Amino acid sequence: MKTIKKPRLMSAAMARERAAGASIGFVPTLGCLHVGHGALIKRARRENSVVAVSIFVNPPQFKPEAYRAYPRNMKDDMRLLKSLDVDYLFAPDETDMYPEGFDTQVETLDLAGRLEGEAIRWHYRAVATVVAKLFNIIGPSKAYFGKKDAHQLAILRRMTEDLNFPVNIIPVPTVRDKDGLAFSSRNTLLTSEERVAASAIPRALEAIALKVSRGAEDRAALTQELISLLETEPLIKVDYAAVVDEKTLKPDVIGQKTFIHAAVIIGGKRLTDNRVASGGKGNKPRAKSGR
Ligand code: PAJ
Repeated sequence: MKTIKKPRLMSAAMARERAAGASIGFVPTLGCLHVGHGALIKRARRENSVVAVSIFVNPPQFKPEAYRAYPRNMKDDMRLLKSLDVDYLFAPDETDMYPEGFDTQVETLDLAGRLEGEAIRWHYRAVATVVAKLFNIIGPSKAYFGKKDAHQLAILRRMTEDLNFPVNIIPVPTVRDKDGLAFSSRNTLLTSEERVAASAIPRALEAIALKVSRGAEDRAALTQELISLLETEPLIKVDYAAVVDEKTLKPDVIGQKTFIHAAVIIGGKRLTDNRVASGGKGNKPRAKSGR
């Protein structure tokens, strides 16, 4: 595995690979890699002649304290990447990604305002900007993203299409621990008590998904129920919960599938997860009572 830190050198290496006919599979990450990242990398390995992974804890997508607290583990990460037969690790420094005078942002105007909406617009602007930069540096044929971060995935798909990046976006299903908790770098920050509490997240999402698949349609009531289920666990504070249409992420659109999303705070750490349930148009609207 070649490790490259300078964007200019990474671009040159990738251009050489493309000139030699390689299809480049790219997996962008924040590092502190776990089996969820591993699933993306394995898929990229199966589908491409060259695999590039980036590790860059992108400062503008974090609040300062969360940036400082974000777990980093470059030694283990490199060991894992080598064992997965990755060809290139791109691990740039902040000053090379954002040199003095940096002044450009990429934003999906409508989509960034969905779900958490304005409160988190700045975060998705930073994610779209860094991924656009990474796409330009690496020039992948395919890029792999987890469905765990479904809002991020929707935004990056939109951006790729809108800005004509010749990149095929490949969504990968969420990888979960035995109790259903989605693997996340942030899980390493949980105490053992908090880790046990966190298993309430997939349980609550699953319970609401089941209701949707059985025909429940009142999204406001389902959202309230999701919040109550999550907050039966005393260590959980719900930061945001939503039950929306999967395609548009709008609560008032009833489509084929329903997207159930939760962001919770456990001991100061923010964990997010989601479930998609079939249910919506397939379930006929309840007959009017005529009252
Ligand atoms: P990070 O949180 O490191 O995640 C990198 C990729 O791994 C994302 O596409 C994410 O959805 C996926 N992923 C994380 N946990 C997963 C799980 N349990 N199962 C399946 N996939 C999982 O997301 C980011 O980094 C950043 O915002 C980034 C896109 C790199 C931009 O900075």
